[in-house]
Amino acid sequence: MRTGHELFVHGLSDMMDAERQLVEALEENANDSSRAELKKAFEQHRKETEGQIERLQQCFELLGEEAEDTECHGIRGLIAEKKAFSEEDPSDDLIDVFNVGAAIKAESYEICEYESLIDMAREMKHTKVAQLLGQNLKEEKATLKKMEGFSDRVKPNEMMTEEQRQKAVASAKTSGRKRAA
Ligand SMILES: [Fe+2]
Repeated sequence: MRTGHELFVHGLSDMMDAERQLVEALEENANDSSRAELKKAFEQHRKETEGQIERLQQCFELLGEEAEDTECHGIRGLIAEKKAFSEEDPSDDLIDVFNVGAAIKAESYEICEYESLIDMAREMKHTKVAQLLGQNLKEEKATLKKMEGFSDRVKPNEMMTEEQRQKAVASAKTSGRKRAA
C-alpha cells in the first residue's frame, strides 16, 4: 500500500466488514435485551445498518473499486467482549446495561471512522462518496445520542453487593444519629 487512494479503499473495506458484523451483533442485542424500547432501538438500527452497507457498496461502484476482503478488528474486539461477558451468566438487567454500553462504544468507533473517511473523500474530491458517507455518519450520530439517553435510564437493579448495602445502611444510620445529636 503506497497511496492515499489505497488507504481510503482499505478504510472503506474495513467499514463494510464492520457494518456486516454489526448487523449480526444488533440482531443479537435486539434478541437478548429485555426492555421493549431497547429491542426496538436495536432492531431499528439493524435495518439502518443494512442501508449503510448499500451506501458503502455504492461508494465502491462510484470509485470503480471492489471491497477488499478485510476484517475490522476494532468491531471484532467489541463483539469478543460481549461474548466474554455472556459467559459470566449475567442477569437480564445487566445484559441491557451492557448492550447499551457496547452500542455506545461501537457507534463512537464508527463515527471516528466515518469522519476520517469523509475527510479523505473530500481531500480526493470524491464529492458523491463523501455525501453517502455523510448519511451513514448522521445515522450513527443519531444512534449514539439515543443510546446515551438509554444509558441515563438503564441501570442495574442491584448496584451493590448485599454486604456493601448493609454497610451503607449502617453508616447512614450512624450519620443520622450524629446529625440528630
Ligand atoms: Fe453503522
